[in-house]
Amino acid sequence: MQKHSLPPTSARELTALWLDGASPSESDLRAANSLAAHLARFDGLRPFSGVIQRLVEHVSTPDFSLDEACRLIELDPALASRILRVANSAAYGTYGSCASVAQAIFRIGATHVSGLAIAMSAMTMFKDLGGVGEKIRDHSAGTAAVARELAMCFNQHALSSKVFLAGLLHDFGKLLLIQTGDPSYASMVARDLAAGSLHLREQALWGFDHAILGAHILASWRIPEPIPQLIACHHQAKGGQGAVTPFARALDLLRVADVIDWLLGQGCTADSPWVKRLAESPDGVRAGLGEQTLPALWKHLRGVREEALLVFT
Ligand SMILES: [Fe+2]
Ligand SMILES: [Fe+2]
Repeated sequence: MQKHSLPPTSARELTALWLDGASPSESDLRAANSLAAHLARFDGLRPFSGVIQRLVEHVSTPDFSLDEACRLIELDPALASRILRVANSAAYGTYGSCASVAQAIFRIGATHVSGLAIAMSAMTMFKDLGGVGEKIRDHSAGTAAVARELAMCFNQHALSSKVFLAGLLHDFGKLLLIQTGDPSYASMVARDLAAGSLHLREQALWGFDHAILGAHILASWRIPEPIPQLIACHHQAKGGQGAVTPFARALDLLRVADVIDWLLGQGCTADSPWVKRLAESPDGVRAGLGEQTLPALWKHLRGVREEALLVFT
């Protein structure tokens, strides 16, 4: 993959989009200027429908209105029905059914309407890739549902929409790389899907990983924070206790949901040593899983995940 370098001023501007003032790292620069980033930025939202393009543009204007966003979504019946399916799924549908796109968006999280539409379309694009794409789609759906459920279980209701959307989009960079990157990338994803070390291989090959790339692209499409920042950091182990900010809480939930989905997909049971290991890990402890809590929640999380897979199939 061809590499370029950016002038430092551009680099600071780009990384500030999602790293909230943190100093730009070499991997951020490479991701921002990678082939995939160029294609996605300059060829626009070519893989997405015209409705999504107009929606993203509308959301970034000062006169943004939810009514107009809903009207745009309703122009794409497949997108509208997918959003309704999510809002009426067991995870969200406890307060009666949603009959309109406006109700559905309000229930899922009105502040994330463009990100939600992109996530719904990305899930379809993963499906179109078949094979490994479908596995990533299922993993994304499962991670989103588990992260949201954990937020609800731990009384972090304000985070539930954010972690749901971040879960759906956390591996969005893989989609970009499969579509626009090295042709051997899809087989690399298939091989490394279980190992959880794909991001390290990406960093070794290109100097950046799918997390940074996906976050950069979503930030450049003006998907509001903290979604891009959560995605950028989802493979960065924090360690220790640190300050318990809403962002840190959301990141902990996303990171543990990422692993829980994989363990559930492997058929792990509540008494598996892997479940115990996750509960006792720094991420697990910070997320509040504890030695007893995660095994006790395991069966419930399995049901939530299975339902989420059905919604996106
Ligand atoms: Fe990832
Ligand atoms: Fe993941």
